[in-house]
Amino acid sequence: MTLDKGLDKILIIDFGSQFTQLIARRIREFGVFSEIISHKKIKNKNINEKIKGIILSGGPLNVYDIKKYSFDKNIIENEIPVLGICFGHQILSKIKGGRVKQSKHREFGLANIFKKNNSPLIKNYFKNRKYAKVWMSHADQVSKLPKNFKVIASSQNSKFAIVENSLQRIYGVQFHPEVTHTENGKIIIKNFIFSICKIKKNWSVKNQKMKLIKDIRNKVGKNKVICALSGGVDSSVVAQLINKAIGKKLYCIFVNTGLLRKNEEKQVVDTFKKRLKINLIYVNAEKEFLRKLKNISDPEKKRKIIGNLFIKIFERYAKKIKNVRFLAQGTLYPDLIESKSVTGSQTSKIKSHHNVGGLPKKMKLKLVEPLRFLFKDEVRKLGLDLNLNKEIISRHPFPGPGLAIRMPGIITKEKIKILKEADHYFITALKENGFYNKIWQAYAALLPVKTVGVMGDNRTYEYLCLLRAITSEDGMTADFYEFKKPFIQMISNKIVNSIRGINRVVYDVTSKPPSTIELE
Ligand code: XMP
Repeated sequence: MTLDKGLDKILIIDFGSQFTQLIARRIREFGVFSEIISHKKIKNKNINEKIKGIILSGGPLNVYDIKKYSFDKNIIENEIPVLGICFGHQILSKIKGGRVKQSKHREFGLANIFKKNNSPLIKNYFKNRKYAKVWMSHADQVSKLPKNFKVIASSQNSKFAIVENSLQRIYGVQFHPEVTHTENGKIIIKNFIFSICKIKKNWSVKNQKMKLIKDIRNKVGKNKVICALSGGVDSSVVAQLINKAIGKKLYCIFVNTGLLRKNEEKQVVDTFKKRLKINLIYVNAEKEFLRKLKNISDPEKKRKIIGNLFIKIFERYAKKIKNVRFLAQGTLYPDLIESKSVTGSQTSKIKSHHNVGGLPKKMKLKLVEPLRFLFKDEVRKLGLDLNLNKEIISRHPFPGPGLAIRMPGIITKEKIKILKEADHYFITALKENGFYNKIWQAYAALLPVKTVGVMGDNRTYEYLCLLRAITSEDGMTADFYEFKKPFIQMISNKIVNSIRGINRVVYDVTSKPPSTIELE
């Protein structure tokens, strides 16, 4: 149980819906703190006076499959308003004595709901219209309402699309107000939190900043903290936040693996050491990495070598700083939420991700994770408020193993040099043409094949450069970005004409799945 004790909140009990995080996001967008907890972890004894409202999420379960979920029924008897969404609506009805059954017509996608009665939940929702467009995703539905409940709206297939028990302030909606496809769904969430739960605005990244700084000071006291700084958004914000809290007691270690993007090490040193005056230890380990990676072409071996060496080097330098008690990490809220595990499914291992997670156990360090309650966009806002420049804040993600996994086959100095140039041209062109911020991640890769070309009457035999640019929400799924011909032609010409070693450019048009974002 990791419920935050500080702020009034809306508690979201997660039954495994893919939209649970969206509910929390919507509430925070209204300036109210919200927290997600798995249905398996919350018991009635955990409910305290800070919880001003409870939302039960949707989920892939059936209410009669009681072996597959656990829910302490007393949670809804605390005189705290409750809103059930989809599965949450069905479970509320079941607990209160109604019935749920498989729908004759499953509803997936858009449906119209029609207003039947008034309720504070639908204040300003239907406006002057009789119906509203909502997004449904269910196979079961409530078939008999419990006592003291009334119908507020119905769709053609779901008689009980919105229901209310005004006495107990329990509400249920069969559709998903948290998704953008539900027209004005936000109004329903807003009505629930403000008109029904009567919670006051208490959340903004700005007001969190001082609290986070205070919490870090309280937690680490006079002790030293180390942080692996990569120059990416999360580790940069963590470093600057802890720097504001404890100044020179923070030691950031930045390892140059030799597999970074062009000029990246200079940018990181300039920003953190020179401009922000952070205690930065710059480790140039280029030679060591290249030596270990010599003649290695297997993707998993590359990843393991880089991950292990990174940890070894980090440890080596951390040991030089005496009496370190804490390790700072950029863990974000989505990393902590367990919605994926609700059905017990395990995702199979596709790639060994590089991180420093193995460190605290080995080095007996305690963790400081100041971003653990924040979403990525909140981290970005916090970063801007902490005086980090836009360039860092809006950076595309960059994998720990760096260019090594954008260069299938063996890694050589020559290939790294060529790839750094190609990537630099591509990324610069994206920025100059206004594409960079519309794209979730983009990069150039160097493929281990040479092809024949002709330049100025001469035959060339050089590498193939692959460009990848994708749109995504969270990196779990992705689609390729559709450039118009003039841009893609311009960048292809530029790369081929400017970089010796590349005579052909291809653009990757696969989505994820079936491909992944990186090549290895
Ligand atoms: P894939 O290739 O798995 O990538 O579709 C998904 C996202 O994860 C990034 N990625 C990594 N990030 N350490 C990281 O910190 C890693 O080892 C790593 N491998 C892939 C990738 O760039 C993409 O954003």
